[in-house]
Amino acid sequence: MAQQMQDCMTIEDQVAALGPWFHNMRIRGVETSPDHFLGDYPAIKWKTFKHVVPDDLGGRSVLDIGCNAGFYAQEMKRRNAGRVLGIDSDPRYLRQATFAATQNGIDIEFRLMSVYDIAQLREKFDLVLFMGVLYHLRYPLLALDLLYEHVVGEEMLFQCMQRGADFVGPVEPDYDFQEWQIFDRPDYPKLFFVEHRFSDDPTNWFIPNRAGVEAMLRSSGFVIEANPEREVYLVRRGQRPYMNEAVPRIVAR
Ligand SMILES: C[S@@+](CC[C@H](N)C(=O)[O-])C[C@H]1O[C@@H](n2cnc3c(N)ncnc32)[C@H](O)[C@@H]1O
Repeated sequence: MAQQMQDCMTIEDQVAALGPWFHNMRIRGVETSPDHFLGDYPAIKWKTFKHVVPDDLGGRSVLDIGCNAGFYAQEMKRRNAGRVLGIDSDPRYLRQATFAATQNGIDIEFRLMSVYDIAQLREKFDLVLFMGVLYHLRYPLLALDLLYEHVVGEEMLFQCMQRGADFVGPVEPDYDFQEWQIFDRPDYPKLFFVEHRFSDDPTNWFIPNRAGVEAMLRSSGFVIEANPEREVYLVRRGQRPYMNEAVPRIVAR
């Protein structure tokens, strides 16, 4: 019955019924979020860094964490990725992603899953996308550590909102206990904690400055290969610093 009703609906009606959309997808000529506050998003963002992703992914496997309506997952398929899995913790976004991929005839698997549960995938991917999710997490370092431990086989495309200083200064290997001034330097690695709201979104928790993002990536064992625009990094698996504690085991609920 539900399927019959859906068959009678226009694409516009179906898009509206699945909304509101964060990704402005194009589905059979219909835009899903034409009035997005960031413009034609994420297409305008993608344009600024797509050159760091090979035109031909040659069948590489891709995991898109926090895939939303699947804009980037679809782009990876268009670049000849092999298996593409998109996960998101919000079922509403996954319904959008499934609809958009089906309508566009693109074969992507979507699964309702939080980044904290990725150990359950028991699979490493050639390329992991972790775009626009870190600042939505109450446990950002845990997420990066879990990514390193369980799913990043080779490379990760990473994006994080930043605020504060856009430059990175030198940081000494150690500071005396009496040191105070270094913490007031704008380019010291920082995470701003949002107790209430930022941009009317109650899920924005920790917003790093540029030095903070880069230090966290390194600290979780990732090597920065490219930084094509302020918020976006292409990183690859490196060595985890020796003093890192083991990644906590998250027991399945
Ligand atoms: C700002 S959107 C970014 C969407 C997309 N990755 C992009 O870059 O355009 C954040 C997405 O992360 C998802 N998300 C938030 N917390 C998550 C979690 N713990 N695990 C998986 N996805 C999460 C949200 O549901 C949302 O789809």
